[in-house]
Amino acid sequence: MIPRVKFHVTSKEFSQLVYGVWRLSEDERGNSEKVVQEKIEFCLENGITTFDHADIYGSYTCEEIFGRVLKQNKSLATKMEIVTKCGIMLVSPNRPNNRIKHYNTTKAHILQSVENSLKNLNVEKIDLLLIHRPNPILNPEEVASAFYELRNSGKVSHFGVSNFLPHQVETLQKNLDFPLITNQIELSPLYIAPFTNGILDDCLQRKIAPMAWSPFGGGRLLQKQDELSRNVMNTIEKLANKYQFTEEEIILKWLTFPPHNIAPVIGTNKIERIKRYLQYTQVPMDIQDWFEIYSASLGKEVP
Ligand SMILES: NC(=O)c1ccc[n+]([C@@H]2O[C@H](COP(=O)([O-])OP(=O)(O)OC[C@H]3O[C@@H](n4cnc5c(N)ncnc54)[C@H](OP(=O)(O)O)[C@@H]3O)[C@@H](O)[C@H]2O)c1
Repeated sequence: MIPRVKFHVTSKEFSQLVYGVWRLSEDERGNSEKVVQEKIEFCLENGITTFDHADIYGSYTCEEIFGRVLKQNKSLATKMEIVTKCGIMLVSPNRPNNRIKHYNTTKAHILQSVENSLKNLNVEKIDLLLIHRPNPILNPEEVASAFYELRNSGKVSHFGVSNFLPHQVETLQKNLDFPLITNQIELSPLYIAPFTNGILDDCLQRKIAPMAWSPFGGGRLLQKQDELSRNVMNTIEKLANKYQFTEEEIILKWLTFPPHNIAPVIGTNKIERIKRYLQYTQVPMDIQDWFEIYSASLGKEVP
């Protein structure tokens, strides 16, 4: 079963494996309620109860596609935790006023974005709201003021950030009297910078769980699209053979290896692939196995 984790000691529980809906509108089988419901139910039945959204996914359409299923099946929403994000402004036919891709973290925009997300998703509450990207003109007092209002009105339970550097997390955190509970960052055997650039240390210091987006490198790793992917996959395949688990389970075990309490956010549209992820907690990976993958990604032995 997928472990339940608190992203901070004060937070509610989320599933350690999170299903991300960024690619929902790209499913080759389409976006009918039947197709989407099948994926949601498969996840829920297998303990993947946390769903990662953003206002912009599918050019502002994915929340609504997902929400149509929740509208028809009221009980589903009670079995899941909803994460969503705001702050990125896309040039899209669905946002004719956006002339250039930009960020907006004003109080008015954050409040409006949450209203849209609640309506599109057909839920009464967002479990976790993230500021999607650090904004060079972010006013932390204004973001904090929006967060307080959303928390007091009961519309959002917890707050966090995404793609923030430690000092950017701190600037916002200094304006809040409750903890930001996650920083959702890119992390995979193809992108190991957070292990050394201070981001994971920052999460440890704050005692918060990072969420890892594109845990399989957005598919590049498993498809062995480049030399780094091929080298890293050689090691992963060796460990998969040694322990008789799938390559994906080896990767997920590596990402969730202590002490960081990382929550991988998976993005496949295929249930058959998710089946290959489910037993990752059982992989008997030891420290040296972990370093085999890390060293393969570094391209050399650690110093
Ligand atoms: N906060 C942020 O800035 C940010 C940025 C990016 C993503 N995210 C979140 O992270 C989630 C996951 O990102 P992701 O979709 O890039 O994650 P991922 O799970 O690393 O990649 C999924 C992609 O890889 C393909 N794939 C998976 N397994 C494969 C295999 N064995 N062989 C070939 N292709 C394979 C999938 O195609 P199929 O669908 O055909 O299986 C899909 O296109 C997103 O949904 C979103 O919620 C957040």
